[in-house]
Amino acid sequence: MNTLHTIAQVRAAVGRARQEGKRIGLVPTMGNLHAGHVALVEKALQRTDYVVVSIFVNPMQFGPGEDLDSYPRTLAEDQKKLLEVGAHLVFAPNANEMYPDGMDGHTRISVPVVSEGLCGASRPGHFEGVATVVSKLLNIVGPDVAVFGQKDYQQLAVIRKMAQDLSLPVQIMGHPTVRAEDGLALSSRNGYLSAEQRAIAPVLQQTLQQIASAVQSGRTDYAQVINEASLRLSEAGLRPDYLDLRNADNLAPASDDSTDLVVLAAAYLGTTRLIDNLEFSRA
Ligand code: PAJ
Repeated sequence: MNTLHTIAQVRAAVGRARQEGKRIGLVPTMGNLHAGHVALVEKALQRTDYVVVSIFVNPMQFGPGEDLDSYPRTLAEDQKKLLEVGAHLVFAPNANEMYPDGMDGHTRISVPVVSEGLCGASRPGHFEGVATVVSKLLNIVGPDVAVFGQKDYQQLAVIRKMAQDLSLPVQIMGHPTVRAEDGLALSSRNGYLSAEQRAIAPVLQQTLQQIASAVQSGRTDYAQVINEASLRLSEAGLRPDYLDLRNADNLAPASDDSTDLVVLAAAYLGTTRLIDNLEFSRA
């Protein structure tokens, strides 16, 4: 497994693999890899012959005051995990390689509607940064398949819509959220939590399960269900940013006749912002 730092090197390496008739997979990440990321790489390995993992803490998707500077950078450990799982190539560019002229004046990809609300409301410009860097990575690697986690549900919806709208020649695949035994979704940001906060964190997923059960048992007063759940989060010591029930396929607000639903949440524990979601169906 090779680690390359420039776009030209990656294009050359992928070009050679393609000449050998290999199907190419891409797993974009910001590094500090955990079992969730590894599961995406395994999925890409099952579906393609040559898997590229990008590791780039993308400054364009961080807002002022967010954790760009403190975001964990652990390239050596990440390389070890990727070697073990059998990835073929790591692409680890620096910001100058990706944004040689800086980010002001850089072309931005904006995916309206699906980027609005939820994380888009609390993190202005975030999904433009994500869509822009993912489109660059797709253009650099040219994969047949790119794999993303459902943990970042709105991000996956944004990327699917971008790929469809821009006729990108790639199959976007989602992968279910990988969780700790107590239900907490694995996240690089969990490392920011104190032991006390880590003990509270699973309440987020538990609350989403309670909302799903309430709706599945016939409640249609969604606003009330959400309010009650929001209160439970606060009582447990989490500070809800949003808690919302949406249609699973397009993230439009859930209505009485919606059957495939997703409940999505973001909440703060201290200064750490956790997100999670749960898909479910109702009859
Ligand atoms: P990052 O947070 O590193 O996540 C990389 C990929 O891993 C994303 O597709 C994310 O949804 C997935 N992932 C994270 N935690 C997961 C879990 N517990 N189970 C399953 N998948 C999980 O998301 C980003 O980076 C960036 O926004 C990126 C897409 C790389 C663009 O910069």
